[in-house]
Amino acid sequence: MSKVVKVSDDTHSRLQGIAKYGESMDTVIHRLTTQAKGLEDVVAGQSSICFIDGQEGRLLYRGYDIVDLAAHSSYEETTFLLLNGHLPTGPELRSFSSELAARRTIPKGVISIITTLPRNCDAMDALRVGVAALGIYDDPMLSQQEKAMSIASKVGSIVAAIHRHKHDQDILPPKDDLSFASSFLNMVTGEVPEEREARLMDVLLILHADHELNASTFTARVIASTLSDTYSAVTGAVGALKGPLHGGANEKVVEMTHEIGTPENVETYIDEKLAHKQKITGFGHRVYKTMDPRAQILKDMAKKFVRTEKEKQAFQILVKVEAIMKKEKNLYPNVDLYSGMALNHVGIPSYLFTPFFAVGRAPGWLAHILEQYSDNRIIRPRAEYVGPAREDYVPAEKRVREVRKP
Ligand SMILES: CC(C)(COP(=O)(O)OP(=O)(O)OC[C@H]1O[C@@H](n2cnc3c(N)ncnc32)[C@H](O)[C@@H]1OP(=O)(O)O)[C@@H](O)C(=O)NCCC(=O)NCCS
Repeated sequence: MSKVVKVSDDTHSRLQGIAKYGESMDTVIHRLTTQAKGLEDVVAGQSSICFIDGQEGRLLYRGYDIVDLAAHSSYEETTFLLLNGHLPTGPELRSFSSELAARRTIPKGVISIITTLPRNCDAMDALRVGVAALGIYDDPMLSQQEKAMSIASKVGSIVAAIHRHKHDQDILPPKDDLSFASSFLNMVTGEVPEEREARLMDVLLILHADHELNASTFTARVIASTLSDTYSAVTGAVGALKGPLHGGANEKVVEMTHEIGTPENVETYIDEKLAHKQKITGFGHRVYKTMDPRAQILKDMAKKFVRTEKEKQAFQILVKVEAIMKKEKNLYPNVDLYSGMALNHVGIPSYLFTPFFAVGRAPGWLAHILEQYSDNRIIRPRAEYVGPAREDYVPAEKRVREVRKP
C-alpha cells in the first residue's frame, strides 16, 4: 500500500530537480522512499557543493554553472570555490594559489615507497599506495582545511612520480612559479606546456572537479562519516574510482577509436556491438538523460584543438558514433567520450587517464569530506533482507547436503 508523504514547499521544489520527465511528485516521493538497485535516484543526504539537473543537462558547483567555470575559471579558483563555498577575491586567490603551490612537493618517504613499486604495476594501485603513504608522512599538525589543501596539491605530484618511475625517468619536482595545470604537465612530460595546452589541462581539471554523490565521492563520505581520517577517505575514493564503470571509461573510448580505425567503419562496429548487447563506452549516465554538459564543452574545445590527421580522424569517428547512438539507443555522450582525446592531446598517456581523473576529482572529494565532518552522522543504511528464513542448527556430523537440481 503506498502511503502519502507530505513535504514542505522547499523540499517540493528541490524534488522537482530530480523528477523524471512527466513524473508526478507523488511518484517521485514513492520512488525515493522504496529501495532501488544501485541506489538509483535515492537521495542519500544533503549537500551544498554540487547540483546536477539530469533532465536539462546542467551542472553547478556551489551555484556556479560549469559552462561559466570552464570558460573563465582555473583549477586554483575552482578548488577554492569547492573547499570554501564561495569564489575568492583577487588577494584571496593569489594567497590560496601560492599556498597550494607551496604544498605540491611530496614527502621523501612517499617517493621512496613509489620507487620501490614494480614498474609494471597498475597506476591506480600505485596511486592508492601513494595516497595511503601520504597519510603517514604528511605533517600531522595540519588542520582539516590544510590537510585538504595538502592532498589536493600533492595528488598530481604523486601521479607524475608514478609515471616517471614507470618509465625509469627522474622524478621532477613541482615548479612553484607555474599554475597547477602547467606544473602537473611539466612533471609528467618534462616540458613546460604552451599556453593553449595549459588552458586545456585547466579546463579538464575543472570539469572533473566534482559530481555530487558519484561512487568514489560517496565512498569518501562513508569513510569520513566513521570519523576516520581524510587520507583514509581519499584512499578509499581512489579504490572506488579504479572500477571501469566509474573511472577508466575514457581509456576504453580511445581503444574503441583505434579499433574502429576510420569513420566508414563506425556503423558496422556499433551495430555489431549493440546486436551483442554490449555497452558502448562514453555513453549513458545514471543521472544525465541528455547530453552531459562536460561532454559538450570538451566536444566544442576538440573542434578547435584537433590538429594532426590522426586527431581529426578520431574526432570524426566519435562524432559519428554519437549520432548513431542517439539514433539507435537514444543515448547521449558522457564526459568520457571526448576527454580521452583531449588528455592525449596535452601529453597524458592513456594508462594515466584514471589517475588524472583522481587529480581532478580530489578537490571535490575533499570538499565532501569536509562537509561530512562539519555535520556528521555515521552513514549506516539498512538492507532489505532476502535470505533464508530462520533455520534450525544441526551439528556438522548430522548435516545432510541437499542436492540442488541445476
Ligand atoms: C554510466 C553507466 C554505468 C550507468 O549505468 P546505469 O545507470 O546502471 O544504467 P544501466 O547500465 O542499467 O543501463 C540502462 C539501459 O541503458 C543501456 N545502456 C546504458 N549505457 C549504455 C551504453 N553505454 N551502451 C549501450 N547501452 C547502454 C543498458 O544496456 C540498459 O538497457 P536495458 O534496460 O535494455 O537493459 C552505463 O551507462 C554504462 O555502463 N556506460 C558505459 C560506461 C561509461 O561510459 N562509463 C562512464 C560513466 S561517466
